This record gives sequence, structure tokens and C-alpha cells, in this order.
Amino acid sequence: MLARVLTFTLDGLEPRPVTVEADLRPGLPAFTIVGLADRSVFEARERVRAALLNSGFEFPLRRVTVNLAPAHLRKGGPGFDLAIACAILAASGQVPAASLARAAVVGEVALGGEVRPCRGVLAAAEGARAAGLDRLLVPAARAAEAALVPELAVTGISTLAELPAALRGEAPAAPAPPPTPAAAGAAGLDLADVRGHAAAIHALTIAAAGGHNVLLSGPPGTGKTMLARRMPSILPPLEADEALEVTRIHSIVGLRGDGGLAAARPFRAPHHTISASGLVGGGSVPTPGEATLAHRGVLFLDELSEFERRALEALRQPLEDGHVTVVRGQLAARFPARFTLVAATNPCPCGRGQPGCRCSEPELVRHRRRLSGPLLDRLDLVLSVERPTAQELAGEPYATSAAIRERVVAARDRQAARGPGVPNGELTASQVRTVVRLEPAARRVLAEQYERGTLSARGRDRALRVAQTIADLDGAPAVTAAVIGQAIALRHEPRPAGAAR
Ligand SMILES: Nc1ncnc2c1ncn2[C@@H]1O[C@H](COP(=O)(O)OP(=O)(O)OP(=O)(O)O)[C@@H](O)[C@H]1O
Ligand SMILES: [Mg+2]
Repeated sequence: MLARVLTFTLDGLEPRPVTVEADLRPGLPAFTIVGLADRSVFEARERVRAALLNSGFEFPLRRVTVNLAPAHLRKGGPGFDLAIACAILAASGQVPAASLARAAVVGEVALGGEVRPCRGVLAAAEGARAAGLDRLLVPAARAAEAALVPELAVTGISTLAELPAALRGEAPAAPAPPPTPAAAGAAGLDLADVRGHAAAIHALTIAAAGGHNVLLSGPPGTGKTMLARRMPSILPPLEADEALEVTRIHSIVGLRGDGGLAAARPFRAPHHTISASGLVGGGSVPTPGEATLAHRGVLFLDELSEFERRALEALRQPLEDGHVTVVRGQLAARFPARFTLVAATNPCPCGRGQPGCRCSEPELVRHRRRLSGPLLDRLDLVLSVERPTAQELAGEPYATSAAIRERVVAARDRQAARGPGVPNGELTASQVRTVVRLEPAARRVLAEQYERGTLSARGRDRALRVAQTIADLDGAPAVTAAVIGQAIALRHEPRPAGAAR
């Protein structure tokens, strides 16, 4: 007896169909799994056998061979359990094989027969929809997540014993996904908590409105971390397709528990001891890193100078191309990684900066080397966050996050209406030329600065992108000379610490 059940595995972040074939033959009882399966799939033998027996089914006393096809695709994880169980039940005539013909099955089983949630259910649902299937059988705890994909009948089950009824179509339909809560700032942090720092908040507003990468540099305790952590509260809400994309990624790495659609843009703040592969992805079966988890949101690198240089170098590809390619042996995976980088650093290791710095020359060299190079080139805004004055600390905040967010959303709408479909911070050099509208006086200022050598060719493009975002925030039809001046000033070349000695 032979039965086939369709399931999905992940190739990077892409769902790939896998056919689970179960063959039963007379002979000494045995249970083998073949088809480039890793250890966790082999362990399915023990889980599935116990789960079937504990759910009142029979485990066939035959030679049971399970094949996972196509054989060239590497398969890992416990998500095959439920499909293997279904294939054995169908091959042994305990459930009708026809009921599984136009369905896919994803889920992990426990020894007692419970069907446990597994990762990547949304990706599997998208795969099932793309493959033109009618039905997807998933763990009940992930049914809401799978139901985010339209035109696919989703059935959630919580124990194997519910399987026969579910296959007869008697199980309750999957619950509608929970309504998306209004996107809130992470943990309710609000810029109204910050005193002073009008200039820094203005820069963060520009970063949020145009998707510009930003570095905050300043002495300890001035509020750099505080400012950066409030960035999510002023970001525009996720578009519908972006929300699905973010939910899919976070579901695959097991970051989502509630089963709903991601509401807020991701904010990832990895510790500075993170390795290069932790940051951009890696592992023997390539898994996404923090850069991908921050996709469509913010990657915050606090204490930038403490990160390993290799890790920072690895960020070059995502910052330039918006994705990461991870190659391990014969496996290559491409992960999306389009995020806004927010970084914070002290001006030098002792934190005092000029004047009064007490760092030794080697310390300064090390600090400088970490901050220089490819990463710095990708930062549109570099600003120094100085100590707020006593008066500022006792005074009123500059603005609430809600008010700033409104301006950010309006500026994003202007960019979207104009094209070319990316925020100003991601415009290529040629797009900058066609998109940015300059008043004649602004053109003169740019030319002057360039002639004087205060602006490089790259710096010129950067200033133009930032200037366009400022104009979009102001609702201005073109970039004025004043705005260009502001944009140029928003990128202090970080004073090489110790250079003045
Ligand atoms: N401008 C400010 N308004 C209100 N509170 C502030 C401000 N600056 C600092 N604080 C207070 O000081 C604390 C420390 O600030 P924060 O951690 O952001 O400093 P930092 O610049 O990141 O310092 P470090 O360089 O040591 O990381 C904050 O949690 C906050 O309570
Ligand atoms: Mg800090």
C-alpha cells in the first residue's frame, strides 16, 4: 500500500513542496525514513509511532518506508511529523487517501498525539496557495496565521485524534485572524520622554521619513540610546504586503506567538558581541540573521565601535542591495534585508571626546578603524548628541511621537505619489538626478560646496537625498538653498578622535 501527502519545507525563506510517500510491505516490522532528511526528521519515527498509538490508531506491523521527495532538497525540523503520520494512516487505510489528495499538511506531533505549533506556517500557506491546493491542515495554534493567506481553506487541529473528522470536513473552520492592533511604538516608548535634543529628534524624523541611515555620536548618558529606542514610535505603519512579508520571516524563525499579522515595524537591537553570521545570517542550514529580522524596520547598533569589524563589514551587502546571500557548502540562501540602520557611539573609548579626551593613541586608532570605512559611507545622517542644558532637562519635550509620526506619514505619502517606489534614502545615484527637484539657488550652493572640496561626489548625492526628504516633510515643491545647507550640515564627518592633538 502506498500513500502520498504533500507538505512544505523551507529553502531559505521560500516554501518548497515536499511529497511524503509512505509504503507498507509485509515483512519484519521496521520504520525507515529516506530522502536527505536531517536528524530531527529521523526522530519523527519515534514521535509519530507513539503519537499514533496514543491517539487510538494502529501503527502498522509491517515494513514502513517513508520517502521525502524531491531527494535533492535538504529537509530539517519537526514540521514533517504530521504529514508522515497522515501518510501512514492513509497507506494503512485508517483515513481515506482521497481526503488528502488536494491538501497539504504541516505540523509537529508530541508523543501523546498533540499537534504542536511549528515554524513557518505562513510560508507553507503561501506555498499551498501558489501550488493551487484547496486545503491546508495545520496545528490549531497556527491556524490564524495560515488564514492570513486568502483563498485557502485552513483547518487547525490540536490532536491527532481530531484528524479523521478534520479530513471529512467536520472540524471547525480556522478562526479569522485577530484584528491587527493599531501599530504602537515598541513598549510604548515615546519621544515626549526626551528633554532637549530638538536637533537630534529632527534628524530622526528625517531618518524615519526618508529611510535614511543615521549615526548618533556623543558622550555617555546624553540620551543616545533613549532616542534610538524611540525610533519605532515615529515610523510609518507597515503596508499590507510588507506586514505579510515581516510576519512570514518572523514566523520562520519562531518570533511570533499570537498568530496575527505583524502590526509594527520590527526594531532589532543586537548586542555588540554578535558574530557576523548572527548579524547577517548563516549556519549549516542557512538561517536569517538580525539584518533580515529587521527587514522593513530598524536595525539598531548601540555602541557601534564595540562591534567586531568583521560583523560590521558583513552589513555592507544588505546596506547596498537590500538583501543578504548566505552560502554554506552547496547551499545558498538569499534573505531580504531592507532596514534603516540607527547606530550610536561614543566619540572615543573614554567617551569624553574633544576636549578632555584621556584615551591612548592605540585606543583611538582602534576606535577610528571600527567606525571608518564602508559602514560610514552608507550613513546619510551623522550627528553629535551633546549634553542637554539644565534648562532643557527641566523644560518641556520637543514633541510627541504621534505628532512626529503624522508628519513622517505625510512625507512618505508624498514620496510614494512621486515614485519610483522607494523612500528617498534608497534612491540610486541616477534616480537622485531625476527625482530631486532643486531651486536654482540650491543648485548654486551645491556647486559651490563641491568646488570648494567640502563635498565629495558621494556626499553630494547623499545631501540631495536628505534635502529631498526635508522638502517632503515641509511639503515643499522643490529643494531650497537653505534646505541643501541643512542637509549638508546633517552629516558632520565624525571628527577623527585625537586628530586635533
Ligand atoms: N535628553 C534627555 N531627556 C531625558 N532623560 C535623559 C536625557 N538624556 C539622558 N536621560 C536619562 O539618562 C538615561 C541614560 O541615557 P542613555 O542611556 O540614552 O544615554 P547614552 O547616550 O546612550 O549613554 P551611553 O553612551 O553611556 O550609552 C536615560 O535612560 C534617561 O533616563
Ligand atoms: Mg547608550
